[in-house]
Amino acid sequence: MAKQVKSKQRVADHGEVFTAEREVKAMCDLVADECLRIDSRFLEPACGDGNFLAEILSRKLDVVIKKYKRNPVDYEKNALLALGSIYGVELLFDNVLACRERLFKLWDKAYTKAVKKIDRKDAVRESAQYILEKNIICGNALSLHQVDEAGQDTPEPIIFSQWAFVTGPMMKREDYTFEELLTRNEPVPKPPEATQMTLDLLAPQEEDDDDGEGTLIRVYPPIQYWRIKEYG
Ligand SMILES: C[S@@+](CC[C@H](N)C(=O)[O-])C[C@H]1O[C@@H](n2cnc3c(N)ncnc32)[C@H](O)[C@@H]1O
Repeated sequence: MAKQVKSKQRVADHGEVFTAEREVKAMCDLVADECLRIDSRFLEPACGDGNFLAEILSRKLDVVIKKYKRNPVDYEKNALLALGSIYGVELLFDNVLACRERLFKLWDKAYTKAVKKIDRKDAVRESAQYILEKNIICGNALSLHQVDEAGQDTPEPIIFSQWAFVTGPMMKREDYTFEELLTRNEPVPKPPEATQMTLDLLAPQEEDDDDGEGTLIRVYPPIQYWRIKEYG
């Protein structure tokens, strides 16, 4: 069984107690149908090293392989979509790195098994890593600001990228502030105490919802899904 506590100091300083697998599965079962929707977006505002996000990703990838095992291109696209729907915020940088790595390994294991005959595999893997860099953020879920490696707030707001396919292989990215995503669809609550495990579904997005208040902060032109790291 994975350790739930790394040190007493970390528990005292940050409330870092990881949730056991049995509880993770039981809680994900409460939203079982959403976990089966490939593009249903999940955000965990105090994600630790990704116990909940890994379980959700794993459930989504099971759906992707069932639906698209006969079509490697559709598998690739939907596996990226599943990954792109998973978001996390975590205060401690080592946990952020561990979470990204864990989700990537899980994704890559499934991908490698599913897709054998596509030349651009490494480029797609880099796209997966790029999505994780954008989606799993070192930040303070209470102040809604990014934090530095010492866990101190920076002036930068937490920004999330929304990923979607437009036509064929073309993927698009739109960036929103975390604050906007929390307040756009009432009555989505403010983030609860970060020391308590939380699992929030982001409400569905609408098109053309930039109300001119700096909420949708950037729209990137569509690009082939194996090239998204070129967004920089
Ligand atoms: C109780 S642990 C839960 C970790 C994970 N959700 C789980 O269930 O295994 C709480 C996590 O929240 C992080 N944390 C504490 N305060 C935070 C804040 N203000 N913003 C983001 N993360 C925070 C801690 O570093 C820790 O990893």
